[in-house]
Formats: sequence, C-alpha cells, structure tokens
Amino acid sequence: MKGLFISFEGNEGSGKSSVLSWIQKKFASEGIEIYLTREPGGNKIAEQIRNVILDKSNTNMDSKTEALLYAAARRQHLVENINPLLEDNKIVISDRYIDSSLAYQGFARGIGIQNVYDINMFATNNELPDLTILFDIDPDIGLKRIAANSNREVNRLDNEALDFHRKVHMGYMLLVKEFKSRIKVIDASKNFEEVCDEVYKILKKFIAENYNQ
Ligand code: TYD
Repeated sequence: MKGLFISFEGNEGSGKSSVLSWIQKKFASEGIEIYLTREPGGNKIAEQIRNVILDKSNTNMDSKTEALLYAAARRQHLVENINPLLEDNKIVISDRYIDSSLAYQGFARGIGIQNVYDINMFATNNELPDLTILFDIDPDIGLKRIAANSNREVNRLDNEALDFHRKVHMGYMLLVKEFKSRIKVIDASKNFEEVCDEVYKILKKFIAENYNQ
C-alpha cells in the first residue's frame, strides 16, 4: 500500500486533537492535504461500537470485552476509512490507534501488552502506522487541562482514577522502548505554539523523506 499512515497518541488532556487540526490547516496552506480521522469511531459501525465502549452507564464492562470492542472498531475503521485512502496514496493521521489499546487495555487494565497486541494483529492484518507521535504529558496535568476545558465531553475512561491514567502513561513509555523507530515522543507540557511547531517539523521531515506524490 502507498500513502502514509500516521497516528497521534497520548494521555487524556495531552492536547493532541487541537494540535491535529492546526497541523491539517498548516499543511493545507502549503498544498499538502492531510486526512484526519479518529478512534474509536470514524464510520457508522465504529461509532456505534464507540458509544457502547464509552457509555458512562456501562460500569460493569469486562476488560477483555473492552479490548475486543476497541479492536473491532479499529478493524472497521481501517477497512472502511483508512485503507481506501492509503490505496489512493493519501496521507492519513488517526487520532489514536493500536498503541492506545496497548497502553490502556494491555498495560493499565492489566490484560497484558502482548495479548492485546496479538488480538490487534489479527484485527488489522498486522497493519501498524508508518509513524506515531506520542504526546507526552504528566497525567495529573492532562486531567487538570480536561477539567478546565468545560466544552469537552467526559467519558467512561476519563472517569477512571488518576492511578489508572498514570498506568496508561507508564504503558506508553514501555511502548516507546519497544517501538523505538516508529514512535517519536514530544513534550506536550510546552505551550500550544511550541508543541505545534515541534510536531510540524517532525511531520514535514517525515513526509519529505517518505512520501511520493
Ligand atoms: P475520546 O473522547 O476520543 O478521548 P481523547 O480525546 O482522549 O482521544 O475517547 C477515547 C477514549 O478511549 C480515551 O479515554 C482513550 C480510550 N481508548 C482506549 O482505552 N483504547 C483504545 O484502543 C482507544 C482507541 C481509545
């Protein structure tokens, strides 16, 4: 497959979604079109799965059920949204992908990173992003940012205790060691302009070196 597949990852409140829309506009102004999508969701079936996963009243959801639902939503998103764009040689950035499952379900929920990796390899036919940008933020600061942003909807995973979000962060740090060449870490505690600039530079270089229009 051609095109470029990039994912953005990070704890809650890392600011990745706001940076993403800035990045899309910036590249558009240079004539480079970036297709944005997000997980869990992106199409009717995946959005329906998303509603089940993030429903605040589903307090009794089993951890493996949760992992399998994310993997199912991921597959539908991949075959229906991402892969057709890649086949058309487009640049696609997904707000979250497999590393979210590895950090949240695999590590923080304690199912095991390898187990969650395995079900995701089945779900995606081993399709990993070409590049992943990890927004590194202290989970305490991330959660405070969310609390300060009254427009953002609070979901079932946001409601987890701080300890859970700290584990998510630890999980991400393990993944950085495991996938050294794929995952680039940026310091998301800096101000918005600095973070945007840093992400822009990484993407600019990566696109120049890896993308043939
Ligand atoms: P969302 O509202 O999209 O949050 P964010 O803006 O932080 O991306 O909700 C997605 C939630 O689902 C978020 O708490 C992270 C979690 N998640 C997982 O636990 N596993 C996954 O595989 C994915 C994709 C998301």
